[in-house]
Amino acid sequence: MNTHVVPPHARHSRLTSQDYEEIYARSISDPDGFWREQAGRLDWMVPFSTVKDTSFAYPDVSIRWFEDGELNVSANCIDRHLATRGDQTALIFEPDDPRAEARHISYRQLYDEVCRLANVLKARGVRKGDRVTIYLPMIPQAAYAMLACARIGAVHSVVFAGFSPEALAGRINDCGSKLVITADEGRRGGKAVALKANVDKALESCPDVETVLVVSNTGSEVAMVAGRDLWLDEEAAGVSGECPPEPMNAEDPLFILYTSGSTGSPKGVLHTTGGYLVWVSLTHELVFDYREGEVYWCTADVGWVTGHSYIVYGPLANGAVSLMFEGVPNWPDPSRFWQVVERHKVNIFYTAPTAIRALMGAGAEWTQKNDLSSLRLLGSVGEPINPEAWLWYHRHVGRERCEIVDTWWQTETGGFMITPLPGAIATKPGSATKPFFGVKPVVLSPEGRLQEQVKAEGVLAIADSWPGQMRTVYGDHQRFVDTYFATYKGYYFTGDGCRRDADGYYWITGRVDDVLNVSGHRLGTAEVESALVAHPKVAEAAVVGYPHGIKGQGIYCYVTLMAGEEYTDALKDELRAWVRKEIGPIATPDLIQWAPGLPKTRSGKIMRRILRKVAENDFSNLGDTSTLADPAVVTNLVDNRLNK
Ligand code: PRX
Repeated sequence: MNTHVVPPHARHSRLTSQDYEEIYARSISDPDGFWREQAGRLDWMVPFSTVKDTSFAYPDVSIRWFEDGELNVSANCIDRHLATRGDQTALIFEPDDPRAEARHISYRQLYDEVCRLANVLKARGVRKGDRVTIYLPMIPQAAYAMLACARIGAVHSVVFAGFSPEALAGRINDCGSKLVITADEGRRGGKAVALKANVDKALESCPDVETVLVVSNTGSEVAMVAGRDLWLDEEAAGVSGECPPEPMNAEDPLFILYTSGSTGSPKGVLHTTGGYLVWVSLTHELVFDYREGEVYWCTADVGWVTGHSYIVYGPLANGAVSLMFEGVPNWPDPSRFWQVVERHKVNIFYTAPTAIRALMGAGAEWTQKNDLSSLRLLGSVGEPINPEAWLWYHRHVGRERCEIVDTWWQTETGGFMITPLPGAIATKPGSATKPFFGVKPVVLSPEGRLQEQVKAEGVLAIADSWPGQMRTVYGDHQRFVDTYFATYKGYYFTGDGCRRDADGYYWITGRVDDVLNVSGHRLGTAEVESALVAHPKVAEAAVVGYPHGIKGQGIYCYVTLMAGEEYTDALKDELRAWVRKEIGPIATPDLIQWAPGLPKTRSGKIMRRILRKVAENDFSNLGDTSTLADPAVVTNLVDNRLNK
């Protein structure tokens, strides 16, 4: 499967394969010189003197880039473009309803919107370093809000609008936001999402929130709490359209983004100002081979890191035209993406394998109805792309003309890490190919032995820092150090498994920890488990992933009820609804299996390996069950495996 090599299109080459090898070698041998040059792509208010000051040595991990420089992210994404491209479109907004009109927001309009919103924040007492929670749908105000925070040095925490009030409340309290920006409602696939009502519910347990700014999006009526809730439009009309950008140290925080880990509640991944912007801007330009004036569309939601780095910060830092889409791929029908491509003459299209698989299931005929000739480059992100989906994407969407960049990265990495560079790295379907400049991937055995031979398999770690790396877990630096640097000393541990082939290409095989990847959304099994055991009838729960044709992984839950409770189908439905309420629709269990007992070691540890095998319908290889406290439990689970 790794022999199908799609040759790079010479026509598109910005870099040749020789360039890639040479530049990569230099980026590794002389990181200071290399990144000093690359950082020149930004406008610095105060130039930096030192470039890299980083250590992965456990437990004294510290990561600082360009540490005495000063700049402002919003000025880099907006102000510096005004002289040359003030009237050029910065954002295209394509609404959920295909009959509604799209909007073009120029860089000058963006400047005005962002300055006003920044002044509204200031008027409500938000100062440099304060946290602001953003709970918005995919509308331009989400980008305005992020950039307005960046402008005044406030730290934003965007919470995906699909999360429940409970999940939102946890994230607001963890970072201590006093201000929340939301909308009356969102729209997705023709349905309304009651965002303001969710915020009201969340705030019942967030006593420190003083202000809620509400975007009037659908115009529906919502309750407004006097003194706390304000309509953003009204406030913005009353403030100045000028707001000077706050000079920020390169290492000042830019944003917090909560993401799931293998244990505990989601972590607040913290990214800072200078290194992050250098990273997302350089990777956006080179990996998408972005050229002036091209229309670029990333279908992710701003609630995830992909939306942060590759809808807002990377593209806008590069003066690109970035399309924001409020809708979903299959509403009103499975040609919706391609209608948008045709309507806006999209040149670069970036989406997730789960969307490709869903559209593939709907049939290739849906890709035939629209003119896709504007497309030049396709991208994939979020999970391993199976070669079948890759080839379908290549044939039916790219019409065999477009290269595909399969970009491997994480919330923690800020931007692309392992990815093809168009023209310079020949692709193989299913492989993220080679490291980006400055990235030093290594393959380790599960015990931590460095695999020095080219062809290798094991876990993926990174040997040295790169500018876009997360700096800490907000409020818990020890958790940062323990999560990423304790298992394999001297390395950043990604949590992914991988294979490196004889050509040095990387093939990501998926998470090796207790993190699930469901439709490209990251979820901790522990989060779903704690939602389940919060139900009064549940005594114990264990959650694992299993292969799912469209979602990549599905959520498989083993549930033990309290003594005396009845195991019924109605209760399964109730538990599904319960988890949706506790976390959000993305965490809805796919399969629930009643488990009168869970396989445990004599010391009481749940043997997840066995649960994974049973969920995968793989009973041949259950491994050593002799350490189990009660081996009969496994027989029972196997006998009752759903759809066996
Ligand atoms: O397992 C990898 C998978 O997604 C994880 C990161 O998830 P998250 O932080 O939510 O960021 C998603 C968007 C970058 C990784 O640990 N992953 C992401 N991209 C790929 C991937 N797996 C294989 N191939 C990819 N291109």
